[in-house]
Amino acid sequence: MIRVLFVCLGNICRSPIGEGSFRAQVMRAGLSASFEIASAGTAGYHAGEPPDPRSVAVARRHGVDIAQQRAAQVNATTLRSYDEVLAMDTRNLSDLRRLIPQGAARPRLGLLLDELEGPRGREVPDPYYGGSRGFDEVWALVDQATAALLQRLIREHKLEGKGR
Ligand code: 4NP
Repeated sequence: MIRVLFVCLGNICRSPIGEGSFRAQVMRAGLSASFEIASAGTAGYHAGEPPDPRSVAVARRHGVDIAQQRAAQVNATTLRSYDEVLAMDTRNLSDLRRLIPQGAARPRLGLLLDELEGPRGREVPDPYYGGSRGFDEVWALVDQATAALLQRLIREHKLEGKGR
C-alpha cells in the first residue's frame, strides 16, 4: 500500500483537487487497491468543511466528484503514516518540514510541481482570493503533476496498471 497525502494551507481549494485528480487517475489505471489517498491543510481554519464550491465545480467539469471530502489539519502523527507527501507551495513545504523529525525515513516530502519536468520550485498558486479562472489554472497544473506522480510511483513500485 502506498499512502499519498496532498497538502495546502486550508485544505479547501488546492489539495482537495490534488486528492481528487490523483484518485481518478489511480482508478482509471486500475490501481485503487495499491493506494491510500488523502489531503490535509497546514492550518485548521476550515477543518470539517467541504471543499470550496469553485474547487468542486472545476473538478466536476473534469468528471471528478470531490464534494464528499472534508477538510482536516495535518499534524506530526498523521504525517508519519504517509509515504509520499506533496505540498502545493514552499510555505506549505517548510511548515511540513517542521513537523518531521530530523533524519526520519518517512514521509518523502516535496513540492507537487517538482513531479514535472522543468524548473524546480514551482508552486501551485493559491486561488482563494481570485476568480474561477484561478481554479482552472490550478486544475491544469495539478492534474498534469498528479499524472507524473502516478507514473513515478508505478515505476518505483513496479506496479502493474491497466496502461494509460
Ligand atoms: P487552499 O486555499 O490552501 O488551497 O485550501 C486557501 C483556503 C483558505 C484560506 C487560504 C487559502 N484562508 O485564508 O482561509
